[in-house]
Amino acid sequence: MRPAGPAGPGARRAEALAALAALAALCALAAGPLAGCGAGGGRSGFPPPEVQGGDPERGQRLISVYGCSSCHTIPGVQGAEGTVGPPLTAFGRRSYIAGVLQNNAPNLRRWLRDPQGVVPGNAMPNLGVTEEDARDITAYLFTLR
Ligand code: HEC
Repeated sequence: MRPAGPAGPGARRAEALAALAALAALCALAAGPLAGCGAGGGRSGFPPPEVQGGDPERGQRLISVYGCSSCHTIPGVQGAEGTVGPPLTAFGRRSYIAGVLQNNAPNLRRWLRDPQGVVPGNAMPNLGVTEEDARDITAYLFTLR
């Protein structure tokens, strides 16, 4: 390494700027599933890959139809301010469903269709959610990040 001469600080600033530019370029490249670059970058990976094969907008509407709102607080669903079950805030970032199932699309569909089969006796009833509806509701819940 060469000691920093009079041009040292300026050169270092130029280096720092170059590094920043490289970082910005990386962020632009990663703007797929790897969200989270910089402020407000959290939604650049929207919709996330888990929603593939599901219709999140339909799922959002179904949440009201099935009455999930009476028990859950769910961002983006009007009137969903229930406090019987846990809030579904940022559900797409959760590791577990009901503390027992790893949070992924197949498991979430399974939970929505048969919560009593997963955790017998818990306060979420089986609501007769169809396969297709579970898929779309799952798609919506995974958009919550
Ligand atoms: C009668 C109240 C009730 C209704 C209606 C209800 N839930 Fe639940 N839900 C619960 C309770 C209570 C739990 C917690 C179960 C547990 O942890 O064992 C839960 C858990 C969940 C979880 C896992 C939450 C977590 O933090 O791990 C999801 C996701 C969920 N419900 C989605 C839904 C959806 C979608 C609907 C509508 C189709 C719905 N729920 C309807 C009461 C309800």
